[in-house]
Amino acid sequence: MLVLGMETSCDETAAAVVEDGVRVRSSVVASQHDLHGPFGGVVPELACRRHISSVIGVVEEALRRASVGLPDIKGVAVTRGPGLIGALLVGLSAAKSIAYARRIPIVGVHHIEGHLAAIFMETKAPPIPFLGLVVSGGHTMLFRVMSPGSYRILGQTRDDAAGEAFDKVAKLLGLGYPGGPAIDRLARGGNPAAISFPRPIPAGLEFSFSGLKTAVAQWISRNTLPKASQLADLVASFQEAVVDTLVTKLFAAAKLEGLEHLVVCGGVACNSRLRARLGDEAARLGFQLYLSAPEYCTDNAAMIAAAGFPRLKRGETDTLDLNAEATIPLPA
Ligand code: KG4
Ligand code: ZN
Repeated sequence: MLVLGMETSCDETAAAVVEDGVRVRSSVVASQHDLHGPFGGVVPELACRRHISSVIGVVEEALRRASVGLPDIKGVAVTRGPGLIGALLVGLSAAKSIAYARRIPIVGVHHIEGHLAAIFMETKAPPIPFLGLVVSGGHTMLFRVMSPGSYRILGQTRDDAAGEAFDKVAKLLGLGYPGGPAIDRLARGGNPAAISFPRPIPAGLEFSFSGLKTAVAQWISRNTLPKASQLADLVASFQEAVVDTLVTKLFAAAKLEGLEHLVVCGGVACNSRLRARLGDEAARLGFQLYLSAPEYCTDNAAMIAAAGFPRLKRGETDTLDLNAEATIPLPA
């Protein structure tokens, strides 16, 4: 069954054709980084306008790369939230138009459910139940995944998301937007032990990153802005504090929940240091680690098709009054 996935929750206009929820026939992501870069973060009004002008072309390109036409598509899966409301409405309206014109079912997908479902498109996919850590620009959350469509939140950030911390620190240092990839690259030449930033580890399975961002801001205000090598040390030390926190919490949750299979997803799961440290720790402690390919960690529409597929396969459909929601809970 070929499903058209669509995603416009933030600053990526994305469409994908996925077969049976697992085989990616095409995945097109039109990023708006050039548009938002000068502002150091996403400007919602600009994001919506760019989605409007891009969305049809992106869908056409996804169909072309998959060598299929709209008559081959048997269902549409579209992100309905959480995200920027205007941005979501663009994708949702386009998806509903396609479903209406073709008389095919449509399902609205929770964006986080999409990130978790990305792992099902990998050849090495985890058995259920598994522990899921979603680390993105908007979320840092730990889940027990009971079945596709059934999730229990174990912990989340009290303030900034991990990706937000990367973006804000990059902005402080003038490294551009999005900050995560820039810091990841620069940190490869730095010493992660050069500066001892605090490890933000609140009680239980919660996270907190705003204090770390403030610690970096204070370090910058107390020191003259570093030369290239010191800048690498600075970002490597910051990155190490984030990575330490994520690794510590993930394995603490795995032990508490008695779960052996661990999935880490979302944009920050692209981070090379995080991937390496997770791999080492999983091997040392005897856990099974599952990481998506980087292009399916950051926002994309293939993951939305993968998440929507089980519902479409069961013959479910949402109605055409389906609405976008800036915040919505995950199905329990
Ligand atoms: O999942 P995503 O594409 O969008 C959201 O749902 O938020 O995640 C984007 C976030 C941004 O904060 C970006 O800086 C971060 O993921 N990111 C990274 C890396 N690549 C993307 N953070 C650290 N290292 C990376 N290599
Ligand atoms: Zn995302």
